[in-house]
Amino acid sequence: MSDRIHSLSGYMHEYQKSVQDPESFWARIADSFHWRKKWDKVVEWNFETPDVKWFVNGKLNITENILDRHLYTRGDQAAIIWEPNDPNEEHITLTYKELHAKVCQFANAIKAKGVGKGDRVIIYMPMVPEAAIAMLACARVGAVHSIVFAGFSANALSDRINDCQAKMVITSDGNFRGNKQIPVKDVVDEALEKCDSVETVISLKRTGQQVEMTEGRDIWWHDAIEGVSSENKAEEMDSEDMLFILYTSGSTGQPKGVVHTCGGYMIYTAYSFQNVFQYNQGDVYWCTADVGWITGHSYIVYGPLLAGATSIMFEGVPTFPDAGRFWAICDKHQVNQFYTAPTAIRALQAYGTEPIEPYKLDSLKVLGSVGEPINEEAWHWYHDHIGKGKCPIVDTWWQTETGGIMISPLAGVTPTKPAYATLPLPGVQLVILDNEGNELKGNSVEGNLCIKFPWPSMLRTTYGDHDRCKQTYFSTFPNHYFTGDGVKRDEDGYYRILGRVDDVINVSGHRMGTAEVENAINEHPKVIESAVVGYPHDIKGQGIYAFVICDMEGRSEEGLIKEIKETVTKIIGPIARPDKVQIVPGLPKTRSGKIMRRILRKIASGDGANLGDISTLFNPEVVEVIKEGANK
Ligand code: WT7
Repeated sequence: MSDRIHSLSGYMHEYQKSVQDPESFWARIADSFHWRKKWDKVVEWNFETPDVKWFVNGKLNITENILDRHLYTRGDQAAIIWEPNDPNEEHITLTYKELHAKVCQFANAIKAKGVGKGDRVIIYMPMVPEAAIAMLACARVGAVHSIVFAGFSANALSDRINDCQAKMVITSDGNFRGNKQIPVKDVVDEALEKCDSVETVISLKRTGQQVEMTEGRDIWWHDAIEGVSSENKAEEMDSEDMLFILYTSGSTGQPKGVVHTCGGYMIYTAYSFQNVFQYNQGDVYWCTADVGWITGHSYIVYGPLLAGATSIMFEGVPTFPDAGRFWAICDKHQVNQFYTAPTAIRALQAYGTEPIEPYKLDSLKVLGSVGEPINEEAWHWYHDHIGKGKCPIVDTWWQTETGGIMISPLAGVTPTKPAYATLPLPGVQLVILDNEGNELKGNSVEGNLCIKFPWPSMLRTTYGDHDRCKQTYFSTFPNHYFTGDGVKRDEDGYYRILGRVDDVINVSGHRMGTAEVENAINEHPKVIESAVVGYPHDIKGQGIYAFVICDMEGRSEEGLIKEIKETVTKIIGPIARPDKVQIVPGLPKTRSGKIMRRILRKIASGDGANLGDISTLFNPEVVEVIKEGANK
């Protein structure tokens, strides 16, 4: 494609154009896609309501751009290479032609079950090619997919199904992860006890474990496609029709369904993929994320496949059968671009360099990082030991809500600096605001990261609750999208993300709302009140620290702590399980009854000696007791 930036001056030039005349800029890029009907206007927007539309009245189907468009040019090229959990099992390659056929066939199968334009479909699956096939089949028929990461609990799954009133669930019997076998279908069965909207459950046979099939509701994947045609005419979608919903945590309440639409998301994920990773025809690209997160949506499936890339999907974990698995896969498939999370790098770093030694890693050209700030030590380790000092690292900052990468070096184009996401992509107009909403201009400033102009893949709403979208993202600083992150712009104009400034913690690159974890803890019958904060964790980036007031009568601390952790696993899932639970006699509060999280954060970080003035607290005496307990 011709929209590739090759030099720093080229980047500067494109960036200028994208700001001076965004409409011409994005129209030029959108022109190289297949539209059933071109748009009337490139963008219409206001950040007050908010109301954002890109490629207004354009008609398309994103899967025609992923599949049909590539049939003649690269039909026999690998679209997806699937690497199974067990290295002794054969990998699978799906060419664009084969993927096209499988998506069309499965699209016909779900259509036959009554799923059509606008219907919501939950996908709760392991990392198998069928997960991508299911996503694309939904997009093909105009249904809205909502993937729930297969590590979430039955309770979290049923909340999401109910919130979007899904008509269908696509799942598997079980899931292989490392040396574990996870009973996925059982979780779906349990979740559906609390849901009325689901008419059909399609289950892929993956592990072969025993599952129950409910007559009239449940059908096997292989039975659903039996004798079904592999030809399907894609549904015509409007640019602004919903493509998918993805639930994510915020600082308050239950997770919200972030809504992305067809046209803008298509343009931006393809454009950012090609430019950030500098993907060349014939390269093999691997993103280690799970399709349950936005990274998997935008940079395993949509972005790479729109660009006609070969994208690897990996079912397993970095440490099975040993800590060299990632590198074994890089050599086996001659990976050129490798994209992972700092938490994985740190976890592997802990094994030393021995697991890397058997591998050449000489196919690698670009390394990527995503999900959380990458510390300098991990950056250097990644750069020296994996990239052998010759691969640029693209530290990509973005969010579920932004749909695509917003701040990142373009590989080999933008000079990098450890721990810096560097510069915004063309079309991304960043501003730094102080807490009063004043713009901090110039370099060497630090404040709240906001965006003042729409970009094509931004969220349009939060499903079923537009006001929540307005309140969460567009009200803190009027007429700006507020990211929730703190940022520094250094003397060179480079951006460094400092982490969340709200009550969201980032555990291994996954977002958790402190309120959400507290609500789960409070479900335990002996819990009276709780406060959750993040604290620095060597591998996870941030760990979850819970301060809990309990009714201790007849109970041991040890037993209660264990039960509290289990309660969270049951209600949300293992990713939300607190690393530390401390039973406390009280929580530090202001005179108006607000919990002083600042103090708890300091204590949790081992910085209890520097609490500053606490005399204005309603109960300053409790602080000493908490400090003592924390040091135990
Ligand atoms: C939050 C978004 C973007 C896909 C994965 C996470 C943090 C993300 C970086 C980075 C520093 C980062 C931010 C952001 N974050 N990437 N390169 N450097 N922080 O998506 O779950 O929506 O989380 O992750 O705090 O707000 P998400």
